[in-house]
Formats: sequence, structure tokens, C-alpha cells
Amino acid sequence: MNKTNVLLIGHGGREHAIAWKLSQSPLLNQLYISPGNAGTQAVGTNVPISGNDFESIKKFVLEKKIDLVVVGPEDPLVLGIHDYFLDDELLKNISIIGPQKAGAELEGSKDFAKQFMIRHGIPTGAYQTFTKDTLTEGIAFLKTLNPPYVLKADGLAAGKGVLICKTLREAEVELTEMLANQKFGKASEMVVIEEFLDGIELSAFAITNGHEYLVLPEAKDYKRIGIGDTGTNTGGMGSISPVPFAGKEFMQKVENRVIKPTVEGLRKDGIPYQGFLFFGLMNVKDDPFVIEYNVRLGDPETESILPRIKNDLLEIFLATADGNLSKIKLETDERTAACVMIVSGGYPGGYAKGKVITGLETVDKSLVFHAGTSSINANVISSGGRVIAVTTLADDLNAAIVQSLESASQITFEDAYFRSDIGKDLMQY
Ligand code: AMP
Ligand code: GLY
Repeated sequence: MNKTNVLLIGHGGREHAIAWKLSQSPLLNQLYISPGNAGTQAVGTNVPISGNDFESIKKFVLEKKIDLVVVGPEDPLVLGIHDYFLDDELLKNISIIGPQKAGAELEGSKDFAKQFMIRHGIPTGAYQTFTKDTLTEGIAFLKTLNPPYVLKADGLAAGKGVLICKTLREAEVELTEMLANQKFGKASEMVVIEEFLDGIELSAFAITNGHEYLVLPEAKDYKRIGIGDTGTNTGGMGSISPVPFAGKEFMQKVENRVIKPTVEGLRKDGIPYQGFLFFGLMNVKDDPFVIEYNVRLGDPETESILPRIKNDLLEIFLATADGNLSKIKLETDERTAACVMIVSGGYPGGYAKGKVITGLETVDKSLVFHAGTSSINANVISSGGRVIAVTTLADDLNAAIVQSLESASQITFEDAYFRSDIGKDLMQY
């Protein structure tokens, strides 16, 4: 049997985890990561091409006879990398994990996602969408709601486009800033005002080809920079999988009420979809509500869900592309994975780069995924806000957390910071 050449696009901890998992597959021939980081270089070959540079990717894919392209982040998807391949005679038969532009709208436009959910009866908060021309109506709508107020820029705003306002006055000011003064540029030309959902958040995942789907393990992400979920939102400071408050019964509701209707909804709407679905959920009194869709895996959720998947990930990707996904039975490790993210001091605001990272090789009880690193000579240096993700699998939550914290403290660079309370809130379940 011919082995598979894979190109993985991206450079974060999520991509290192995907690359690490793919590198274990007996079905793999060559694995390339564009552009990758110092961690992916150890399990594949980095290629200095941006995921948004479709022409250079085309050249590379043809030169290296790539069979499968896996798209890590959302940007290339929203920009239409999958459509670009389908429109090209030489590329159209290459399999891609990641939806076409039409499906990527689930993440690219909050208004599109909300309309989709309402149309297909998928549980989500009540909402209305406003533009500059309907700002007055928007303010009138705010007055009909109870605080807090949830305002969402329609487009991609690097994870910053959602505002939770405590008072009506603050919400009015922010809505005006977004619509009239383009606070988030083009992304806030439209703003979704949404009912506040009071509950506890988690992330659910599936992979689909538009007909079949496979539910993947869920995870809880820790978005805020500070201890006790305080301070600014980040890309994610850690993750836990499985999620103790999302038991079998709850996850069955997620599949029946959210995952299945989403895949069926895409089909009914004539939207082809091959790739990951990421459901940002709120558990409200044991019922799931969708707060957002993403069209990729989460980061740092990936760093705790992939270590729990026993199956060959490449086999799952190939089955997705070949229409054989139903034949795959997911086998999960029952243990708990705890991921702690080490970041650069100052992140998510300004931070220094180029700091030498030491102690990586001393970690032997946890997995180390590089999030923002590069290598210079023999050194691994920091090159991003989120720098290293440390994941431990252990028999219980506490043991996994304790070991991840210990491993994280073995890794040092100037001004390194991590949250010491990842997963602690889950001990009560
Ligand atoms: P998003 O970018 O859509 O994930 O939103 C960012 C964060 O805002 C989420 O992680 C939630 O904590 C919060 N959020 C979004 N929508 C709602 C909502 N309807 N009710 C309560 N919190 C929300
Ligand atoms: N951890 C959240 C995300 O990847 O969007």
C-alpha cells in the first residue's frame, strides 16, 4: 500500500500535537509542516511557507507529491484554501482536512452561524444583528435585555471581538464604538447582540465529511490570563479532558441536539464540509447551548484531546476523505489529560520574543508541545505569546494537574508565566 505524504499548515501548539500524533502512524510517508516551529521540526520537516500563501503551497504540494493537506488554523480556510485546491486541475484530487469557504463561514461570520443555528433548531441564545444603519434599533434592543450584555463583532477579530458588558451604558458605548467607529475594523461592520447564557463552558469536537461524523473527546479551556479566571482573554492558558461535568448523558445531548443537526444542516443547506467542527458550548443546567462554531481544532484543547485518542489519526483523516468514517470506532484513553500553557510575560499584551528556553529535555513525565518557538543554532527560543504547552495523562485529574505544573516549572525562560490553577475548578465535580 502506498504511504501518505502529508502537509500540515500552522505553527502553534495545536499543530505540534497534530504532527506528533501523525508521526506515529504506520500509514505516513513524509510529514511536512508549514511553517511549523522548533517542536514540529522534531517529528517532521518544517517548510518556511505561510498557510495563506496559496501559490507557494501549490508549488510545494506538487513538488513533494503531497496526498493530504491538514489545515490547522482558520485563516487559510476562511481565505478559501480548500476552494483554491478544488479550482485547480493539478490540485483538485488532493484531500484536504478543513472546509471550503462556504463552510468556514460558521467561524468567519457570527451572524451566519446564528442564522444557521436558528434555521436548524440548534440550541443557542436569542439574538439580533445590527449594522451602522440600524444602530438606533440596536440600542433600543439592548434596552429590552437584562444585563450582562453580549456583543459580538460579526467577523474574525483575533479572538477579541466578543464583549460582555455589565451595564446598559457600557453596552451602548461599545455598540456605538463597534458600529459607528469600527472598533474592530471590518469585523465589526455587523454586530450580533446575544442573550447572556449563564452556565459553564466547554469545547466539543467532531470530524466530518458532510455525511458521516466522528465525535472526538471534549475539553475545557481556560481563556483568561489570571488565576481564578480573571484578567484579559487569551488564546487559552490550559485545558482539561475529559470534562467532569460533561458526563455520558450530557455528551449524548450534545451529539443529538448539536453535532448531528449541524452536520445535517450543512447538508440540507448544500454546504460541503470536510474537516473539524468545534462547538463552543455553554452547559446551562445540564443542557448544551452553542455560543460559537469554529472550523478547526481548538488550541490548547488539541493538546489535551489528541493524547487521549488511541486511534491512528492519519487513518481517521484518510477515512474522512474516503467516505469511510463510519467504519472508525473512536478509542479513547480513560485517563485525564491536563495541559498547562507557559506564556511570555506581558501576554496577551506586549511581550518579548527571542528568549532562550531551557529545561525542555528534563521533562520526562509529561508531553511537551511547542506553541511559539523557533530554533537558532542549538537553542530553542521563544517566538510567540504562548510558548510551550505541557500535557500530562494521569489516572485522576489532580495527579494530571500536579504533574503538569511540576513539568512546567522545569521549563524556564525569562519572564515565563503559567496559571497554577488550571483544572482546579473541576475538582468539585
Ligand atoms: P467566543 O469568541 O464566541 O467564544 O466568545 C468569547 C467568550 O465570551 C466565550 O468564551 C464566553 O465565555 C463568552 N460568551 C460568548 N457568548 C456568550 C453568551 N451568549 N453568554 C455568556 N457568555 C458568552
Ligand atoms: N481555545 C480556543 C480556541 O482555539 O479558539
